[in-house]
Amino acid sequence: MPKKIYLDYAAATPMDESVIEAMRPFWQAEFYNPAATYLAAQNVAQCVKSAREKIAHWLGAKPAEVVFTAGGTEADNLAINGVMQRFPGAKVAVSAIEHDAVLQPAKQYDHTIIPVSAQGLVDPETLRKFIDNDTVLVSIMYANNEVGTIQPIRRIALMLSEIRQARIKAGNDLPLYLHTDASQAAGYLDIHTHRLGVDLMTLNGGKIYGPKQTGALFVGAGVTLTPQLLGGGQERSLRSGTENVAGLVGLAQALDMAQNQKDQEVKRLSELQHYFIDQLKLLVPPAVINGSRTHRLANNLHITIPGADNERLVMQLDEAGIMCAIGSACSASKEAPSHVLMAMGMTAADAQSSLRLTMGRQTTKQHIDYTLKILKSSL
Ligand SMILES: Cc1ncc(COP(=O)(O)O)c(C=O)c1O
Repeated sequence: MPKKIYLDYAAATPMDESVIEAMRPFWQAEFYNPAATYLAAQNVAQCVKSAREKIAHWLGAKPAEVVFTAGGTEADNLAINGVMQRFPGAKVAVSAIEHDAVLQPAKQYDHTIIPVSAQGLVDPETLRKFIDNDTVLVSIMYANNEVGTIQPIRRIALMLSEIRQARIKAGNDLPLYLHTDASQAAGYLDIHTHRLGVDLMTLNGGKIYGPKQTGALFVGAGVTLTPQLLGGGQERSLRSGTENVAGLVGLAQALDMAQNQKDQEVKRLSELQHYFIDQLKLLVPPAVINGSRTHRLANNLHITIPGADNERLVMQLDEAGIMCAIGSACSASKEAPSHVLMAMGMTAADAQSSLRLTMGRQTTKQHIDYTLKILKSSL
């Protein structure tokens, strides 16, 4: 057994060697500001352009629709604040299980929280009932960071387009945009924005074997945003600041790899996921799998062991060499039970008996067997 088994890929992913190699030139040899006029800097600007094109390719977007940000949080904040500040007094609707990077900015405005099912899924028809004539933005994450549920984004987009049509007929000229946070999804799912029907999408380098604090917001051609960072006018004035060239090149390489490998990786991880679930039933019978069985990220395992203290369990697992989480990394230090699990109708006691194990490129069947063995012995 390796000394350490990492099962917290939803919190952070190690950078891929190819990402590090792609980034390396831009720290020293090619350190120039891409806005400078000499030839060496123009070469760097060319690299920024091709990174943008690579990302646009996977998004099915135009390069001008890609806005580089310093991570997923910033992209989410730009989407929510950027739209809501354009339409003072208008409403935003977000699901109850969004990451805080969406929930917290949304709470600054007139907002509606959309409930989810016990499996952690948003039902488009339920969502429809929460949208009124003043709603300008709906933000529903593509895949959840705790329980891994995959939301029916395409169906939500179709439902919203019906509302848009009705609004046009009624003479209501307020837009109705759909934002999705694809931080956890980009390694496993199709992120083509036209196929999905989204207007705004968040990407996050730190979750796809790229650098932390790198990300992008897809901003569809018809969407106008209030910039959150004012200055030199980079990123079509939507996000000023000298480009993090190494970072955005790393993000593009990471996304390219993740999207190219996704089918293969989904297949491999789904097998491990099913194996874990089957074995868990046999070896740890009281344990329950949370979230959806059918609409779930292939790398996510989220379990409740009734009566267990999840903080103690995480420490026991850590002592045995297994790194995993009690919930989202950002809420790991908070005492309150997970808002995601509570929104799914779980009791606070069960939420505090729950563990998140998230697999990734380095996870093997031996890691899963060993983890099951340790879980069994912890009973
Ligand atoms: C779904 C989701 N959105 C946003 C974020 C925030 O990303 P970051 O902390 O990298 O800015 C995370 C990170 O865990 C996430 O899982």
